[in-house]
Amino acid sequence: MPVQLVNEIKSTIKPNNHPYMNEAWTPNYKEYNATEMEVIGEIPQDIDGVYIRNTENQVHEPIGRYHPFEGDGMVHMMHIVNGQAEYRNRFVRTKAFAAEQEVGHSLWAGLMEHPKMSIRPGWGAHEHLKDASSTDVIVHAGKLLSTFYQCGDGYRLDPYTLEQLGTESWVPLDGISAHTSLVEKTGELIFFNYSKHAPYYHYGVVGPDNKLKHYIPIELPGPRLPHTIAFTSNYTIINDFPLFWDPELLKKDIHASRFFPDIPSRFGIIPRFGDPDTIKWFEADPTYVLHFINAWEEGDEIVLDGYFQESPVPGRYPDAPPEYERMMAYLDMYLLKPKRHRWRFNMKTGQTTEEHLDDPYVEFGTINHRYGGIKNRYAYSAIPAKGKFLFDGVAMHDNDSGRSWEMPFGPQRFGSEPAFAPRINATSENDGYVATFITDLIQDRSEFVLIDATDFEAGPVCQVILPHRISSGTHSTWAHGEDIRKARALRAA
Ligand SMILES: [Fe+2]
Repeated sequence: MPVQLVNEIKSTIKPNNHPYMNEAWTPNYKEYNATEMEVIGEIPQDIDGVYIRNTENQVHEPIGRYHPFEGDGMVHMMHIVNGQAEYRNRFVRTKAFAAEQEVGHSLWAGLMEHPKMSIRPGWGAHEHLKDASSTDVIVHAGKLLSTFYQCGDGYRLDPYTLEQLGTESWVPLDGISAHTSLVEKTGELIFFNYSKHAPYYHYGVVGPDNKLKHYIPIELPGPRLPHTIAFTSNYTIINDFPLFWDPELLKKDIHASRFFPDIPSRFGIIPRFGDPDTIKWFEADPTYVLHFINAWEEGDEIVLDGYFQESPVPGRYPDAPPEYERMMAYLDMYLLKPKRHRWRFNMKTGQTTEEHLDDPYVEFGTINHRYGGIKNRYAYSAIPAKGKFLFDGVAMHDNDSGRSWEMPFGPQRFGSEPAFAPRINATSENDGYVATFITDLIQDRSEFVLIDATDFEAGPVCQVILPHRISSGTHSTWAHGEDIRKARALRAA
């Protein structure tokens, strides 16, 4: 059957005007399998893999104020091979999802409320939140891994069928954060967690065989809120930014992040399998970075690209309901002002040098991950929409020439984090497609689109129309069919 409604989850959400439960953030409750979808243009024959994106997709009426990063995880998958497309979407069947299904209402209050409002103990760094598994997705060892930014279990799904494979057994007591990183060259997965308990941070590596190879404590000065991790061919780069839960408020169990402009940013560089005492710390200008782009080794230096927030404390958000003003401000990239930035850490002298790469506010970037950990020339960023956590275009950056190109999605059309899908037998770094889902509010539908990176401004080469309009979300990934087959063969051996 070309479009099959597989399941429908009952929602208890009442009609509301919450800015992140309506319009492009309207949650979905139907789960589909679809083939033979309408295609505008032509699906290329020269890619083979899956584009997978998560969505924060709340099922039950929230307890107190709702923040979109707490919604229940839903995964959307588009499999492209031989010029054909197959789409599926599923909720991630987390332990929390099952518990709330059983009782028929929310059991956990969110980030903006006091933990005493939660009905059950929670998970992760915060300790009182629902582990929604709704932040990030990656494919490692032939299986999808879905994760939550405040740390929690790692939920595994089959990347093609979205069959639920349960929680990952190597995940330690403190859980794993979102933004595990796949080293495509070796098949290794880098992960970290953070908590309110000393030493406050752990770092680990899982092999291509899905066995835990390395797990070490890294002592930080106190509870911190790291969001991502970066790596080169031989090193891993962790971060300690001066934006963390206010220690005084934390004593009252109030979790309110605060920026400390007099404390430097710190980056810790450690050999991939290094012991805690091999970490080298570097200081840099105070900021907060949600996402890094790539890192590599160059002579005595480690080079790191990422999005440097010029205003980690956002300015005032106009016209927001007072109870949501802080949330709206922290979700507006035009107030946080993230710019592409390059840090250089000299491993011999211990010195840091840094500079902006350009001026536009962009975030949620990607590269051709075949170049993860080695010098990349090209990067691709999502272009934020003004005022709301939405992306209304995608940009391609050429680090050699300093040029960038922009491809706007059009009025009331919002995309997701882009991912880069290299052509089969690609001959250069930029030889492939930029993939995204787009939600079109005017046509009331969603599409999967591919943009030829070698002809970027020409627009999509194909638009595959999904069986339903899908909610916006945060992160995405592209996994190569070739890598999934290799990983599965390794696991079967
Ligand atoms: Fe993220």
